[in-house]
Amino acid sequence: MGKILVIGASGQLGSELVGGLCNFYGKDNVIASDIHESGDFDCAYELVNALDPVRLENVIKEYDIDEVYHLAAILSAKAESNPLASWDLNMDSLLIVLEMGRRKIVKKIYWPSSIAVFGPSTPRISTPQYTVMDPNTVYGISKLAGERWCEYYNQKHGVDVRSLRYPGLIGYKHAPGGGTTDYAVDIYFHAVKGKPFECFLSPETELPMMYMDDAVKATIDVMQAMADQVKIRSSYNLSAFSVTPESMCDSIKKMEPDFSISYKPDFRQKIADSWPVSIDDRQARKDWGWKPRFDLEKMTGAMLDSLHAKLNTSD
Ligand code: SER
Repeated sequence: MGKILVIGASGQLGSELVGGLCNFYGKDNVIASDIHESGDFDCAYELVNALDPVRLENVIKEYDIDEVYHLAAILSAKAESNPLASWDLNMDSLLIVLEMGRRKIVKKIYWPSSIAVFGPSTPRISTPQYTVMDPNTVYGISKLAGERWCEYYNQKHGVDVRSLRYPGLIGYKHAPGGGTTDYAVDIYFHAVKGKPFECFLSPETELPMMYMDDAVKATIDVMQAMADQVKIRSSYNLSAFSVTPESMCDSIKKMEPDFSISYKPDFRQKIADSWPVSIDDRQARKDWGWKPRFDLEKMTGAMLDSLHAKLNTSD
């Protein structure tokens, strides 16, 4: 097979997905890229600005790339502080990669979508695959438009593009990076350092979440599926479990009894309130066999163990 290029590899998802791809395909077959001079990866690394089609095409040709995982994006909360630049990055970079698919420069494309495609008029419990979508964040609007472009390029030009609507993703390798669901990452970073945590969402705000290992597995699974199994070419609903800050705190306290939390909701509360509480992902389960492995308790154990180990080695 040809090689795999990950764009936006140093971000929250990329920093875990690159490792997963290296384990699955071998590190000689994976090239990480981002806008930083260098990256901390076991595989090759290239500086690539996702908005530079010439540089991107050169790297694709140099390494004989078949598959692109295009992860570069500005997340929901951060995008609100710079809407137009965020729109440009989130949209233009996707169109650059889809065009490479249309021109047959790459054979397969992965692009992440999000629960942010839903909005205040969407049914919030067990949100269906097909439903009202009225996102009210720049990030959500760009993800919904991106989904439509993915399906368009698939139907009009036969581009093999695949996508998942991730819930909030929780992993230990990367510090939180501007998302509304990021309290659920930050809370664990505070817990292992023995620090109290001030949450920017209210205690009862329930959102769908997923442990990073499951997200990496889902991503590799949907990319591994036969093309005719991947019936949805906009983006698949994907679910693991739903949590509130309060239930997450309770779960942490079982292992870190002294952990304490306080609440100070800010502008991110309104974003969270417009997103689903739970997701119906039956189509992903049916089409390509999706099944999560981590629930809240299992994830809390994994997060605290991994973060303690990380903290000890950095001491
Ligand atoms: N986790 C993302 C965010 O909060 C949503 O996909 O922005």
